[in-house]
Amino acid sequence: MSKEQIQIFDTTLRDGEQVPGCKLNTEQKVILAKKLDHLGVDVIEAGFPISSPGDFKSVVAVSSIVENATVCGLTRAVERDIEVAADALRTAKKPRIHTGIGTSDSHIKHKFNATREEILERAHAAVKYAKSFVEDVEFYVEDAGRTDNEYLARVCEAAIKAGATVLNIPDTTGYCLPSEYGAKIKYLYENVEGIDKAILSCHCHNDLGLATANSIEGVINGARQIECTINGIGERAGNTALEEVVMILKQHAYLGLDTGIHTEELYSTSQLVSKHMGIYAQPNKAIVGSNAFAHSSGIHQDGVIKHRETYEIIDPKEVGVTESAIVLTARSGRAALAYRAKKVGYELTKLQLDEVYANFLAFADRKKEIEDKDIHEIIETSEVYQQITSA
Ligand code: KIV
Ligand code: ZN
Repeated sequence: MSKEQIQIFDTTLRDGEQVPGCKLNTEQKVILAKKLDHLGVDVIEAGFPISSPGDFKSVVAVSSIVENATVCGLTRAVERDIEVAADALRTAKKPRIHTGIGTSDSHIKHKFNATREEILERAHAAVKYAKSFVEDVEFYVEDAGRTDNEYLARVCEAAIKAGATVLNIPDTTGYCLPSEYGAKIKYLYENVEGIDKAILSCHCHNDLGLATANSIEGVINGARQIECTINGIGERAGNTALEEVVMILKQHAYLGLDTGIHTEELYSTSQLVSKHMGIYAQPNKAIVGSNAFAHSSGIHQDGVIKHRETYEIIDPKEVGVTESAIVLTARSGRAALAYRAKKVGYELTKLQLDEVYANFLAFADRKKEIEDKDIHEIIETSEVYQQITSA
């Protein structure tokens, strides 16, 4: 069965970079953009060109070095923003302007002090103006998650009439439940006139920890692009994590949806982003966290040593992690100790293992995690040490 392609729109350099303390300079954005291009993302949102001269410079620099991906610049539905973005993207092989406006009643009243009809007109005008510079225009309907579906559909229709190629349906505040977000996408897919001329895109925030689930529901219900960031970084609680949605679609092949991501580059990309942004993913972060392929309880370790798939649904090599880790703690069993001892050079018989294991437990009760140097100490101070042969 041939699979349908889901476009991966990476916004690490724009939404991700909005995290306090994570600002990137031009050189860093160029390094990360090269890596993202190599990873195989379809779109790189390089920045918000009007926001500062530094970001303008970064979008220019990223535009001129990216080989394969579309390079995108964010704007508000404001003419000057659009002109500046078009200028910043002028050297891009495949430029995209990403413009939009808030549509929830809260945004219309408190941000714009406007009416629904005025917002519709501004949406149409912004896309039309962006189209006078580039062919590829994405329109974001900010706070779509809290916008009623009927009005949302009218805004989408106005953007399509003006020439939008992609309609971004952001759950800006991370409010929606997966079923609700999926139903929203389905409603738009079935009710927006002219929807065959554009694709729907999911842009979900993680305020309730649902960003990844919402994006997956979105593509199950007809969206064909996911906006995401490496390590899920982004405004407040973050965005959809790229590595999560990519591996979910890969693991659940029966959905018939695929991405062009070279998954074996995921771990090194995560590490590079962490290094440049100065924040590391939490240890239990799915796919790229330091514990994502680490096993520490005796029962799990015994299973993994016998057959990796007993406790792992992903082969770590698929995401660029060299091997699963067997972590030694006071909860580990004999199988794990024998496995790690062998790795550092000792072949233990069953009797020797019993003796060394008693020593190990006493040690592990005093120390949180046993390192290789500790294994040497534990074995060399045990009574059976002289009889132990090298592995
Ligand atoms: O979360 C959001 O609504 C956004 C838009 C600017 C696309 O980031
Ligand atoms: Zn966002």
